[in-house]
Amino acid sequence: MKISHFIIFLFLGLSSFAQPRVVLHADSGKTRISRHIYGHFAEHLGRCIYDGIYVGGGNTAIPNVNGVRTDIIEALKKLKVPNLRWPGGCFADAYHWKDGIGPKKDRPSMVNRWWGATVEDNSFGTHEFLGLCEQIGAEAYLAGNVGSGTVQELSDWVDYTNIEPNKGPMGKLRVQNGREKPWNVRYWGVGNESWGCGGNMKPEYYAMQYRQYATFMADWDNSKKIFRVASGANGDDMNWTEVMMRDVPLNMMEGLSLHHYSVINWSAKGSATQFDEATYIKTMKQAWKMDDIVTRHSAIMDKYDPRKRVALVVDEWGGWYEVEPGTNPGHLYQQNTMRDAMIAGLTLNIFNNHADRVRIANLAQTVNVLQAVILTDKEKMILTPTYHVMEMYNVHQDATLLPVEVNTPDYVYGDEKIPAVSVSASKNEEGITHISLVNVDASKKHDITIDIKGASFKSISGRILSSNKLQDYNSFTNPDKIKPSSFSGASLSGNMLKVTVPPFSVVVLALK
Ligand code: AHR
Repeated sequence: MKISHFIIFLFLGLSSFAQPRVVLHADSGKTRISRHIYGHFAEHLGRCIYDGIYVGGGNTAIPNVNGVRTDIIEALKKLKVPNLRWPGGCFADAYHWKDGIGPKKDRPSMVNRWWGATVEDNSFGTHEFLGLCEQIGAEAYLAGNVGSGTVQELSDWVDYTNIEPNKGPMGKLRVQNGREKPWNVRYWGVGNESWGCGGNMKPEYYAMQYRQYATFMADWDNSKKIFRVASGANGDDMNWTEVMMRDVPLNMMEGLSLHHYSVINWSAKGSATQFDEATYIKTMKQAWKMDDIVTRHSAIMDKYDPRKRVALVVDEWGGWYEVEPGTNPGHLYQQNTMRDAMIAGLTLNIFNNHADRVRIANLAQTVNVLQAVILTDKEKMILTPTYHVMEMYNVHQDATLLPVEVNTPDYVYGDEKIPAVSVSASKNEEGITHISLVNVDASKKHDITIDIKGASFKSISGRILSSNKLQDYNSFTNPDKIKPSSFSGASLSGNMLKVTVPPFSVVVLALK
């Protein structure tokens, strides 16, 4: 080969590698993407519940229904929240649910020791939370107290919410408190982070505790199956999953949880809004780590549960930074930039692509805490870039996952490198195929070629979330700086789809 030919060959080779190529198997979907992957989490922490969601219904000028802000209800309905986890978090293992029922004037107060030592007056309790779920059309996911509670207490909570009217002491108590019909709560967490704030237990000890609690949480009449979620691993603690899967019989556990936050350094988490590209790529590396962690936990679960009966429940995920200057360090209030939108798009693609095992997930947290979808300031409310990604992606809820093979160049900055592009795809009941694409590269656009196998499409439409700077965010003075717009960067020629995705942006396409 002449030198000049070699150079041309090398150039073509490198340039094709420099652009992402995807194969979409549009006719080989087998797995349903559970809508519960798109769940949220609301803890008694800072201004999430009080102020953010619940304004009490007393003298407030903020419009509300039974104390729950009307603007929040509307925003969460639009998001199609499938399930909402409550009351914690660390708070769950300090919470005694009987303190939060009955006349409000008789409810005892407590000090919320995990989160800023705020006095909790228990005015938002079981009835208020389950009423919120009914208003937004979400299923409740209640986290029970194992760390400082009792088996009887949790067993009573299941009865209180699910037993027939007036049956037994809990059925009578519920009716006495004004609720005739059971709520039939399906999802139950059995403790939270039992390796840490939930009791600092070893997995062998927690597994035995779990078996005891789970025994008394059964459905006695077996007609409404409850779904018990065992407290799971911290990030890549594979031993926790190994022990739980080994020591708990498969018929006693419907889900096993996992928590992973995209944090670079727990003792110096950095600002939510003031960060450079070197920090950005490190955060995104932590977000990509979810793929590896889920793959490894799933492999352990496969060993004990090849039929995938037990779901992996990622019931806490998201970005976690220092609090906004001037706010209570125990209240975890942070702004939300395009970096968070990238974490959300990437993580949801990872969950979609692992839908055979990951069947529930919960972003931490809904309002005013960590990677919130909504921020409030008195009567004002704004939607964050993360909200918009979750809303764009809700087309995947309960759709059939379509396999994708993704060949992507790396995004390189300094000494760090991570895959630049992430993709997932699904087909819904109306036969519409949706493809979500995330370009995490902070400076390069990517021309993505998608080779579609097994289907042909006539039309294509799409939406994009992007902004000028990674550090951009929606504020109370500029609430719509970042919002989805219609996308015109895709073209279809036969079975080849070409999509140009700008740096740090999220695109969702609909193909018919
Ligand atoms: O989401 C904030 C806290 O993070 C939760 O309370 C706890 O479970 C986790 O450590």
